[in-house]
Amino acid sequence: MESLRSDVVYLDNACTTLKPQDVIDAVVEYYKRPACHGRSAHALAREVNERVEEARERVARFVNAKHIIWTKNATEALNLVINGFPFRNKKVVTTILEHHAVLLPLLRRKDLEVKIIEPTLEAWEGVIDSSVDLAVTFAVNNTTGQKQNIKEIYKLCEDNGVKLCVDGAQAVPHLKTDYPYHYLCFSAHKMCGPTGIGALALSELDLEPLVLGGGTVKEVAIDRYTLLPHEAKYEAGIQHYAGIFGFAAACKFLEQVGMEQIAEKERSLRMLIDRALSEYITYGKGEVATAIFNLPNAPCHEVALMLDKKGIAVRSGYFCAQPGVMWLGAKEGTVRVSAYFYNNEEDIKVLGDALEEIALLY
Ligand code: ALA
Repeated sequence: MESLRSDVVYLDNACTTLKPQDVIDAVVEYYKRPACHGRSAHALAREVNERVEEARERVARFVNAKHIIWTKNATEALNLVINGFPFRNKKVVTTILEHHAVLLPLLRRKDLEVKIIEPTLEAWEGVIDSSVDLAVTFAVNNTTGQKQNIKEIYKLCEDNGVKLCVDGAQAVPHLKTDYPYHYLCFSAHKMCGPTGIGALALSELDLEPLVLGGGTVKEVAIDRYTLLPHEAKYEAGIQHYAGIFGFAAACKFLEQVGMEQIAEKERSLRMLIDRALSEYITYGKGEVATAIFNLPNAPCHEVALMLDKKGIAVRSGYFCAQPGVMWLGAKEGTVRVSAYFYNNEEDIKVLGDALEEIALLY
């Protein structure tokens, strides 16, 4: 794991993760032999065609998906689902603890009735019925590290003919994707891959594309067009091939580390984090190694900057989940610590010692 050490104590993994050499090599390799996918017939282009489809299969296997569509990130995948979904009753259910990538596209759709619930199974049970079209929610929360029981939520949705869209941005990197979904949105850069590439995994290609253009159509006349029947209809224009290859390399790397081992390591890091934060103000309960807190009387950004001065990288604020963080009781935001499998006991000890020193100043 030595290649995955930073020159700081890196505890901002929910924002983005460190990158292994294999991922960096996969990205660089593309730029040494660049070509476009699905267009030209020459050898370089054929090689890219083959590698993009191999990468699609690898990412699909990683999350047990029938189809994978490349997107810019989890945010774009969520926007594609929310704007491309074939609504009947125009009724959606989500939770108060969602990321803005879920809340904002839903709030913008003035034609939708959006029911916002607390993230508990009881609340889901009370609200899912056959009048709902779509449920959109996180599997792991980006503030508290709370896990939702997606298997049960999916069952509830299936029993009522509701489609479930899972925001997997903070779940796919940390836990084995062993739960069912209709749509699953995730980003490569939160799982050791490059930025600028994400994916939407789907059970059916039943969404309207968000963007149209080159590569999406079978036939075009001046007054009509026919979209391709497969994944390409969602991938207009030249794609981020270097990112796609890096994404596949990241999946391979995580498979080699082992998703069970990653989950286990995070459980133990979470216990250490909870212990290090036990004297301070904490919010919510979680299972993965992401937690939010405040020091009494200390503004969160000041604490984050003081940690930075001590060589510890964390994030502070609302984490693109302002309604959720405020609902948890942190009206002025919080500090967030987020570890990944390559962090160790020493990192959490360094954080705990630094917080003790900073807390004395307030
Ligand atoms: N969504 C990312 C985070 O929670 C950027 O930090």
